[in-house]
Amino acid sequence: MNIIQSGEILGARVEGLDLSQPLSPAEFVEIEQALGRFGVLSYPKQVLTSLQLKQFAERFGQLEINVANAYQEPGLPEVMILSNKVGPDGKPLGLSDAGQDWHTDMSYSKMVAFTNILYGLEIPHRHGEPLGNTEFVSMHAAYDDLPEAMKQRLEGKTITHDFAKFWDMMRAKPGSTRGPLTPAQRAAKPPVSHPAVMVHPITGKKVLYANPGYSMRINELPEDESAEVLAFLFTHQLQAKFQYKHRWQVGDVLMWDNLGTLHNAVPDYRPDEPRYIKRCQVMATRYFDVAAA
Ligand code: OGA
Ligand code: MN
Repeated sequence: MNIIQSGEILGARVEGLDLSQPLSPAEFVEIEQALGRFGVLSYPKQVLTSLQLKQFAERFGQLEINVANAYQEPGLPEVMILSNKVGPDGKPLGLSDAGQDWHTDMSYSKMVAFTNILYGLEIPHRHGEPLGNTEFVSMHAAYDDLPEAMKQRLEGKTITHDFAKFWDMMRAKPGSTRGPLTPAQRAAKPPVSHPAVMVHPITGKKVLYANPGYSMRINELPEDESAEVLAFLFTHQLQAKFQYKHRWQVGDVLMWDNLGTLHNAVPDYRPDEPRYIKRCQVMATRYFDVAAA
């Protein structure tokens, strides 16, 4: 295995590893460390069954099963389809608008997401350039670059995250087919709180754990002050100097660290430009205790 750094703020390419085969303990440790350090890892030219994708993913922690969602591989509910394609019956083959604004996965959940693992089977291109890039920002860098007074101000603070914030924002976009959350869906995902600053379980360094997709409120501050600080943090953390983009190629497996990065799926392709991706969401069960959370 050869890990080649992008030379940018995030990102490395892992070559010489066939993900259809089990990782050795040494390979696992090397990858886990690299994921903490580089935030986003890509493995080009993989040929995987859905079961092999699931088996690779579950080495990193418990997999999430998205109960509310229909776009699951038959018999493998941990593998979900992200796609803008429709079947012969006109029904969508996958979730078509996943992640289309800045967020980090499952910050709205008591047990947050650790790494999301995507396998690109169809990637739109135009004039030879890939479309539907996935963009990232580094929360190690964003934390380090905060003014000292802001670091002090965030110390010991917690933030409320709410699933409904991203849902309602996506719903308000033109052409959205999302309906309002049902009372049952709403009840299944009540708001949760997490520390505003976390010590990253792999790097041991502090990261900013806030994101415009789900973060609602800094609990210990008055409402107006919370709104002001969150607005500052959202602008701060999305600065171009913290950004990295993955340009997809067919066969890429892409995994990112949800504790140390935010991401955004760029919807710059048309319905007649198919994108088809399989995904496994890995929760942070290796690092956090769900009972304690
Ligand atoms: C996700 C997501 C990004 C993409 O699956 O959580 O944000 O590029 N996907 O599909
Ligand atoms: Mn996402």
